[in-house]
Amino acid sequence: MDGPSPYRVTRLEHSLQSASRAEDDGADEETIACAQLHDIGDVLCPPNHSEAAAAVLRPFVSERNWWIVRHHGLFQGYYWFAHYGRDPDERDRHRDSPHYEATVAFCENWDQNCFDPAYPTRSLAHFEPLVRALFAREPRPFV
Ligand SMILES: [Fe+2]
Ligand SMILES: [Fe+2]
Repeated sequence: MDGPSPYRVTRLEHSLQSASRAEDDGADEETIACAQLHDIGDVLCPPNHSEAAAAVLRPFVSERNWWIVRHHGLFQGYYWFAHYGRDPDERDRHRDSPHYEATVAFCENWDQNCFDPAYPTRSLAHFEPLVRALFAREPRPFV
């Protein structure tokens, strides 16, 4: 995640900025950890990186946070699909989801704006305890 990227910051810096902004907005620790981890998989499988990240997180997070991470890629399309001939409102097919508004807010506040080299982004070491605590939880079984 710390390698070359097409953005103004590396993917690692983007993720750290997402977690930093979530922390600055008073999000709970699980949500901050999800912000830190929402783009894992982006190096291996960019087109479905949301799905990859959500699969890793699923046993350890709430249904709501899983759903947000799972769908954030589609919801992010609101900001760029138009440049590639896609409908920016594709996310609206999920309007009936109880997590729709939370996912819109995640993208607006903690994702699409997290490419700013000037933001006071915290270090990976700062968030490491949150991430370790998350994966130290008893995994929640699901089918
Ligand atoms: Fe993403
Ligand atoms: Fe992202």
